[in-house]
Amino acid sequence: MRTSPKTRARTWWPTLAIATASVSVWAVAFAGSPKPEPKPEAPAAGSIVVLGFNNLGMHCMNEWFDNLCILPPYNSLHAQVLIRGEEPHIVTSGATISYIVPNNTMSSNKTNFWNYAFQLFGVNLPPDIGLTGNGLVGTMTYSGNQDWVATGIPITPMNDAFQLQAYNVTNITANYQGMVANTVAVMPVSWEISCNMCHGRTPTQIGPKPLGSDRQVVEMDILSKHDRLHGTNLVNERPVLCAKCHADPALGTSGVLGVPTMSSAMHLSHATRVNKLFIPNKCYACHPGVKTQCQRDIHVTKGIVCTNCHGNMTAVGDPNRRPWQDEPRCGSCHSVPGHEYEQPGVLYQDSHGHGGVLCASCHNSPHAITPTTNPEDNQQALMLQGHTGVIDKCTVCHTSQPSESFFHKRSD
Ligand code: HEC
Ligand code: HEC
Ligand code: HEC
Ligand code: HEC
Ligand code: HEC
Ligand code: HEC
Ligand code: HEC
Repeated sequence: MRTSPKTRARTWWPTLAIATASVSVWAVAFAGSPKPEPKPEAPAAGSIVVLGFNNLGMHCMNEWFDNLCILPPYNSLHAQVLIRGEEPHIVTSGATISYIVPNNTMSSNKTNFWNYAFQLFGVNLPPDIGLTGNGLVGTMTYSGNQDWVATGIPITPMNDAFQLQAYNVTNITANYQGMVANTVAVMPVSWEISCNMCHGRTPTQIGPKPLGSDRQVVEMDILSKHDRLHGTNLVNERPVLCAKCHADPALGTSGVLGVPTMSSAMHLSHATRVNKLFIPNKCYACHPGVKTQCQRDIHVTKGIVCTNCHGNMTAVGDPNRRPWQDEPRCGSCHSVPGHEYEQPGVLYQDSHGHGGVLCASCHNSPHAITPTTNPEDNQQALMLQGHTGVIDKCTVCHTSQPSESFFHKRSD
């Protein structure tokens, strides 16, 4: 039986006033002091729960845009809202879901993206507004896929105190028919794209180097090498959007016919070059990174690295692979009898299991499958169920312990 939400919610964390007060508690907790673990109260009927996650394990962006742009600031935050009940019900309309990162509220003072957005993307953007019109604080819209989303949030990996902060703890508040629920999810973003390990350096110098230290030299080196090797004139066409010629599904560009996709061009051409680097994980030459450690999930703990799931650079750069679409699948390694995984042809980030609940609502984003090695990604599970790991406490969503056993089946 579904319980109708007549009265104001009595959740384990019931009012906005408390919510606001608690935010600073977390902020302090993340600054390094011992964390007060919130204790979930007994569930109440007529309440809602919200679960948040990011579509990707990491969003890369360039820090500067005057010379070249691989990727702009562009983060996408998702949330699912459920009316709790014996049979929980997923809310698909009429909810207001807001997001804010309390200590990262401005971007235009941290990158020069807004000075070059028009030249690169042909759009005039007000400061701190991203390519799809969303800001650093805002509300989500219904996605059509059982969840709510805010795409293109232009957050940077630098907080308001100008400290690097890749894992931005975002407060999400859902309001539905007078009921309120809160959660936290991570917006991961990094500009630790370490082309400077090799570019702008002599062959004897290659290896890790401080971020951004020599970026003009590095970027000009990349463009001039491209011009020399491929007969282009990029040095004189700055700022250069690589995806203008190299098709890039991440940006929705189709590129120039005959020119390899951005992903294929980068991975194939650098496949043997990276062997010169003496870093344990070669993918961290360009992906964030030696410092950021974007893969921080349960698999790292179990010794599973990038290439176990993605294959090597040559496999990633295979021209027959569709970048951003042909990605690893949980179901290709895991098989527990009775369990089902992603829908055929659907990415993990868009797949559902257990009555329409998204995989990522319970397990979190790829590369951040809980429990994770960094505290930020574990916050949501701690808050909602009192322990880290997958959301496995039935009464997070069900108002009473179901008598039937848990089913781990996909649902369409
Ligand atoms: C492991 C060292 C290494 C790293 C890391 C690296 N590159 Fe390169 N890159 C090279 C070498 C070597 C060349 C070839 C230079 C030559 O032949 O003169 C090259 C060439 C290029 C070219 C010219 C086109 C071509 O044929 O490949 C581009 C563009 C380029 N790199 C972009 C990048 C970008 C962008 C990054 C960071 C995301 C990056 N590289 C990271 C070593 C590296
Ligand atoms: C004006 C169009 C244009 C732009 C803009 C452009 N490229 Fe290219 N790129 C090309 C062409 C053409 C080739 C040669 C393709 C071939 O040989 O099949 C190429 C080749 C490459 C290669 C080598 C691929 C290989 O397999 O050898 C890399 C790497 C590369 N580009 C990276 C970049 C990066 C990074 C940027 C942005 C800084 C960029 N490109 C911007 C047109 C462009
Ligand atoms: C020389 C730089 C470089 C190295 C080294 C590198 N990547 Fe990438 N990778 C890139 C760039 C640049 C992009 C963004 C391409 C785009 O915007 O479409 C990318 C995107 C990707 C993507 C998403 C797009 C797709 O093809 O699905 C995957 C997956 C990926 N890399 C995996 C890896 C793995 C695994 C490794 C190590 C084996 C690795 N990369 C090493 C530069 C690199
Ligand atoms: C346990 C398996 C696994 C490991 C290990 C892993 N990935 Fe992934 N990766 C995935 C899956 C699954 C996706 C896509 C899921 C989706 O989009 O729904 C993905 C997607 C990506 C993407 C596309 C955009 C994004 O961030 O989601 C990039 C880039 C990427 N991986 C790079 C890496 C790099 C670099 C490493 C190592 C540091 C790595 N991956 C380790 C499973 C893995
Ligand atoms: C390349 C194969 C591979 C892929 C792809 C992969 N995993 Fe795993 N995963 C493993 C291995 C191996 C372990 C460790 C199992 C063990 O220690 O018994 C593991 C462990 C786990 C665990 C810890 C619980 C357990 O069963 O040990 C979870 C949860 C998990 N994976 C979820 C996922 C999810 C969700 C995805 C898709 C986003 C995924 N995995 C993709 C290989 C993979
Ligand atoms: C309602 C929460 C929930 C949803 C939704 C969910 N899972 Fe799980 N998942 C769990 C729990 C709980 C476990 C641990 C089960 C156990 O250990 O018996 C688990 C275990 C797993 C494992 C590791 C054990 C195994 O089966 O190999 C993988 C991989 C996995 N889930 C993938 C997925 C994928 C893919 C989806 C989406 C199609 C999904 N899950 C949806 C709760 C969920
Ligand atoms: C993240 C929220 C969530 C969690 C956690 C969760 N469930 Fe569910 N559950 C749902 C949703 C949504 C449905 C679909 C209800 C419907 O049929 O409309 C459902 C349905 C069910 C059903 C079928 C109910 C029916 O009569 O149709 C059973 C049985 C069930 N869950 C058992 C469990 C058990 C056991 C656990 C704990 C191990 C659990 N669930 C954890 C959200 C959740």
